[in-house]
Amino acid sequence: MVWPKSQTQVGNHVHPLLRPHDLRLTVFSTFAFTTHCKKIILSMIMKLLLSEKRIQQRVGFLARRISRDFLGREILMVGVLKGAFIFMADLVRKLKIPVRLDFVRLASYGDGTCSSGKIQFTKDLECSLRGKDVLIVEDIIDTGVTLQYLYRCLKARRPGSLAVVTLLDKPSRRKVSFQADYIGFQIPDHFVVGYGLDCAEEYRNLRGIYIVK
Ligand code: IMP
Ligand code: MG
Repeated sequence: MVWPKSQTQVGNHVHPLLRPHDLRLTVFSTFAFTTHCKKIILSMIMKLLLSEKRIQQRVGFLARRISRDFLGREILMVGVLKGAFIFMADLVRKLKIPVRLDFVRLASYGDGTCSSGKIQFTKDLECSLRGKDVLIVEDIIDTGVTLQYLYRCLKARRPGSLAVVTLLDKPSRRKVSFQADYIGFQIPDHFVVGYGLDCAEEYRNLRGIYIVK
């Protein structure tokens, strides 16, 4: 990399911190230090609940069961954005049957950690469900309000069959009765992030699932 003179020279002297090599080292060590600090802060506010390995094993198990149950059929998987995007991407790649994909996005009014119960589509499906084997893919069922609403809406569009797979289930938090057909993990009443799940849009890209302390 060629460093322009103006960036490295102060008057006729090159400032030690601005010499190209030192500057790169400084930038690198600042980056390494920041990354290290971030890791320490993350470990202070989060606790690992499900490791990447456990999640992948369970997703493999779910994929085998779904492939077996829908053998000889094609399923239309409906991902619930945004939280289910990583789970859905891993799940579809492990399935042994033909699949088509579509997505919905629902907004539920409330604060960052609690839904209020009033739900609305902010992105609807692009295809018809009539006569198709449809599988809703959700990241987590908490109160059950979102999925109950979505299930009823999609059922009214006359699919051939309608089932739900959720990676996580918090049964102790239910406000309405709702049971998924395929469940990855039942977890206790904690707010969790990672593997697609967020807290105020952060942490979706963590490979494991963490409890926010
Ligand atoms: P429900 O309507 O209360 O079942 O909540 C459904 C939605 O709330 C999920 O699809 C998530 O987007 C969000 N949610 C519920 N619990 C958590 C959590 O622990 N972490 C992140 N998002 C959550
Ligand atoms: Mg969700």
